Amino acid sequence: MGQFDFVKKLKFQESSPAVVGCFFSSLCLISFLLLVDYRILNGQLLLLSSWFKSSQKVGFLEIGGETCDIFSGNWVWDESYPLYQSQDCMFLDGGFRCSENGRPDHFYTKWRWQPKDCNLPRFDGKVMLEKLRDKRIVFVGDSIGRNQWESLLCMLSSAIGNKTSVYEVNGSPITKHSGSLIFKFSDFNCTVEYYRAPFLVLQSRAPPGTPEKIRMTLKLDHMDWSSEHWKEADLLVLNTGHWWNYEKTIRGGCYFQEGDEIKMGMSVGDAFHTSLRTLSDWISRKVNSSKTHLVFRAYAPVHFRGGDWKNGGTCHLQTLPDPGSPPSSSYAELETVLDGLSEHLKTRNVELLNVTVMTSQRKDGHSSLYYLGPNGGPAPIHRQDCSHWCLPGVPDSWNELLFAAFLKRQSSPPPASA
Ligand SMILES: *[C@@H]1O[C@H](CO)[C@@H](O)[C@H](O)[C@H]1NC(C)=O
Ligand SMILES: *[C@@H]1O[C@H](CO)[C@@H](O)[C@H](O)[C@H]1NC(C)=O
Ligand SMILES: *[C@@H]1O[C@H](CO)[C@@H](O)[C@H](O)[C@H]1NC(C)=O
Ligand SMILES: *[C@@H]1O[C@H](CO)[C@@H](O)[C@H](O)[C@H]1NC(C)=O
Repeated sequence: MGQFDFVKKLKFQESSPAVVGCFFSSLCLISFLLLVDYRILNGQLLLLSSWFKSSQKVGFLEIGGETCDIFSGNWVWDESYPLYQSQDCMFLDGGFRCSENGRPDHFYTKWRWQPKDCNLPRFDGKVMLEKLRDKRIVFVGDSIGRNQWESLLCMLSSAIGNKTSVYEVNGSPITKHSGSLIFKFSDFNCTVEYYRAPFLVLQSRAPPGTPEKIRMTLKLDHMDWSSEHWKEADLLVLNTGHWWNYEKTIRGGCYFQEGDEIKMGMSVGDAFHTSLRTLSDWISRKVNSSKTHLVFRAYAPVHFRGGDWKNGGTCHLQTLPDPGSPPSSSYAELETVLDGLSEHLKTRNVELLNVTVMTSQRKDGHSSLYYLGPNGGPAPIHRQDCSHWCLPGVPDSWNELLFAAFLKRQSSPPPASA
């Protein structure tokens, strides 16, 4: 019954007290509903005004945005995310395709990083590729670096219609085992490369005549052999940290070496420090900072709870970010890097992609049980991956920050150093 009919009917049977009662209680109900409506509207206005406030923030690349710390901020829900779908990206290891591997929730793809004091430029693959024309962008580091590299491949290639114009220059497929992969965006004569070097310094077979328990050594005073290939990149993104622990070194028979001497008693922490001195020295000697924009992507925290990767640590069923995450002072890896590269960070020869704290808030972003291919089914509950990241996901945000830093650098290069 329409409102109009209702009023007509009311006139028709004016005298009935039941109808009058009904009329008044309806009036009450309607005004109550209006009130609720008003409050919802009010809520929407509040939301709208907070959106308006954020849209009023200065752009990072605009005048006044120079001093903005883009790493200080929070994760906000954004319906327009993710920037791509994993099914549409052929450059992804099966291990990062969480949704395709059965992860039921998609929330983890919906968060955008919002700096507190400015707005980031929205990622635009076309713009990035245009800026990268005739250039090389190189990622070097561990598998988390590879995670970020694959994310960028997807972000860039989603801007390209002709998928066959993007290919690996040696025809290698994306597999976990390859030491390096070079993808070319042929329309832009641009390559996006990855070199696996989890320690950045050189790992090699133990010299002959050493005790049997020494299977490998890390030559702390030599850069990885592949450094010859990356030193002339236009944009070089380094990371290290996840392998600098007892498990991944001494426990496996990998000891530290300086010169000809194997340092049996050296701690992992000291070895990490020494390797960064080597890196710092290499940057001074070999990297032309007028040509190469060198970015160090800071440590990405892991989120194993109640154990680690091999004894049942978990992050499964984490579906929301945790803004109240741990104090930033607890990141030894970040501190070591800040210390080791301090000279270059000061002169801006090296730019820090300071993602550690923002990433610590994303316990929901890991592959957890969903790192086995679509036919592998979820992994057993005691074998969770709480260090790598689902894609689309958290590494996309690191790349948005990289994009912003890259554009910024193009518009205001640091003073040339001697
Ligand atoms: C990195 O970012 C966090 C969060 O904004 C901040 O607390 C920390 O001081 C930053 N570290 C460096 C070295 O910039
Ligand atoms: C492609 O880029 C490389 C640098 O990465 C440059 O040396 C070469 O001349 C470029 N080729 C063309 C056809 O412009
Ligand atoms: C797509 O790219 C490939 C390789 O660059 C090229 O041979 C082909 O002609 C392109 N196709 C179209 C429709 O542009
Ligand atoms: C460093 O790079 C700049 C810009 O590409 C170039 O002009 C300069 O010659 C290079 N310097 C050296 C020592 O190679």
